[in-house]
Amino acid sequence: MPGSILNKICSLAAVVSEIDFKQPDNSFSTALKIEMSLLLNRNIFGNPANKGRVISKNEALQLLNKWVVSDRLKLHMLQVAYIMQRWAAEKELLDGEAQWRWEMAGLLHDADWEKWPDEHCNKIIMELEERKIDPDILHAIASHGPNYFGVEPVTQMDKMLYAFDELSGLIHAYSLMRPEGYTGMELKGVKKRLKEKSFAANVSREDIQDACLKAGLDMDELIGFIILHQSNLKI
Ligand SMILES: [Fe+2]
Repeated sequence: MPGSILNKICSLAAVVSEIDFKQPDNSFSTALKIEMSLLLNRNIFGNPANKGRVISKNEALQLLNKWVVSDRLKLHMLQVAYIMQRWAAEKELLDGEAQWRWEMAGLLHDADWEKWPDEHCNKIIMELEERKIDPDILHAIASHGPNYFGVEPVTQMDKMLYAFDELSGLIHAYSLMRPEGYTGMELKGVKKRLKEKSFAANVSREDIQDACLKAGLDMDELIGFIILHQSNLKI
């Protein structure tokens, strides 16, 4: 759907330029052009023989820093990575290796967006396939925008990446407009912003609802979790 694609592109741009994002006059045609190349047209990612294979955090950060210039986009990925890791640890009770797989998916999910917007998602997946990375991580990245990439989230890691992606960005945008930042931020404030269509208008409310539904999770719980952990993240 062109509207959804537009939302996705604007949403990513909103992460880069935060809440002062202004949609350029020609953005709709750009969005339509990108729509065709965003669809991944496959459902198998990586090689099952590579299950369990990861790169170190240093290597992942090197890749991130090589591909991403924008500090704001880097911050977005660091935030999503952190809340993915904390969820894996606290809610899924996974071991350290599994936590890193969740974190790595968050850390690299938008790594190709800035350099190759018309190959977004495809480029990072190909890079990680070349590096023989665990196919579960590749699938989580491939399914973080099912309405845009055409890949449905299946595992809990897939579903949580999809659920955290847009909500994390909206909550961070809210923190930037509050003089106290995250301090004292409450669930009701975030929900009010969610209802305000004009606030971070580029963040797709439909995707957030769809992601919560798919993950079988209560949005209030997710919002509370993100507020708590993003406010604690020190970079
Ligand atoms: Fe993202």
